[in-house]
Amino acid sequence: MNLSELSKQIELGRFERLVSDSLSEMFQNANEIESRFNQVITVPINLSEEKGFEILELYYTASWFHIFEIVNVPRNASIFEIGAGDTVYIPKAMNAYSSGNGGNYVTANLNKELSQRFREKTEGLNLSIQIIEDDGANILNHLSKGSMEVIAFHHAINDIIQTIIAKIENIDTINNNWWEIEPQLLSKVMEYHNSGKLKIATYDAFVSLIDTCRKLLKPGGYMVFDNCTYAGYEAMGYSSEFHSSYINMAREWIEEAGLGLEEVELKSYDKMWWMVLRKL
Ligand SMILES: C[S@@+](CC[C@H](N)C(=O)[O-])C[C@H]1O[C@@H](n2cnc3c(N)ncnc32)[C@H](O)[C@@H]1O
Repeated sequence: MNLSELSKQIELGRFERLVSDSLSEMFQNANEIESRFNQVITVPINLSEEKGFEILELYYTASWFHIFEIVNVPRNASIFEIGAGDTVYIPKAMNAYSSGNGGNYVTANLNKELSQRFREKTEGLNLSIQIIEDDGANILNHLSKGSMEVIAFHHAINDIIQTIIAKIENIDTINNNWWEIEPQLLSKVMEYHNSGKLKIATYDAFVSLIDTCRKLLKPGGYMVFDNCTYAGYEAMGYSSEFHSSYINMAREWIEEAGLGLEEVELKSYDKMWWMVLRKL
């Protein structure tokens, strides 16, 4: 979400439930809030700033909450996230949005350690939460077609692609510590990308996963994607420019596959970092 717009809305108290006490003390007015956001929400994301992690969390929870409002998601909606890992921005945004009105959140998450941490981090939320430890590609074995209002891909296109490549390369992404194998995963993705083989290797599995998610959505439901690029990866030989192009790559592939999803452009959401698709 556009940082100036977001800061004005925070000053007006719109995202009160998402602003922690310590950020609230730090934020004096919209200009101050915007300048704090500008220090952290950059390319690449800069978490070394004071309260960098809290500011990043507020950026994402408020941006997702705002999307739920714009596209009129029911307060008691069911939302499915692919590959949450141990990141809890979407359940927190949904928790604030549903505000005790019976929202449901489900994630399909393969990595065991991250699923366990996700469980611990979401314990206190007033939201029904289910973690399915399986590949999102198999989600229709667990949930009914047409049962979700929203499908969330928070910084997940990269995780999906890395997991597809890992399967080809026999790297275990379920039982290993994700952060220990991450350098190996990124180096493999770069190898496929640099040799022009990434699309051949991953297109079918990626598009089939999106199509499965489409079946899981109610007609008129939404798939929402975001992406960001964190600092520190160039030093590992992983290209930030490539990582920053993931939304455009997914847009191109989904369009090419003709899945029956139309893009909805939202004012104040940059198309390079956000994509919202509506099921026809
Ligand atoms: C590093 S975490 C990322 C969490 C979150 N997307 C973020 O960027 O903050 C990656 C997680 O995505 C999961 N993942 C990747 N592809 C998946 C798939 N097809 N189905 C289920 N989980 C998947 C991995 O198992 C892992 O738990």
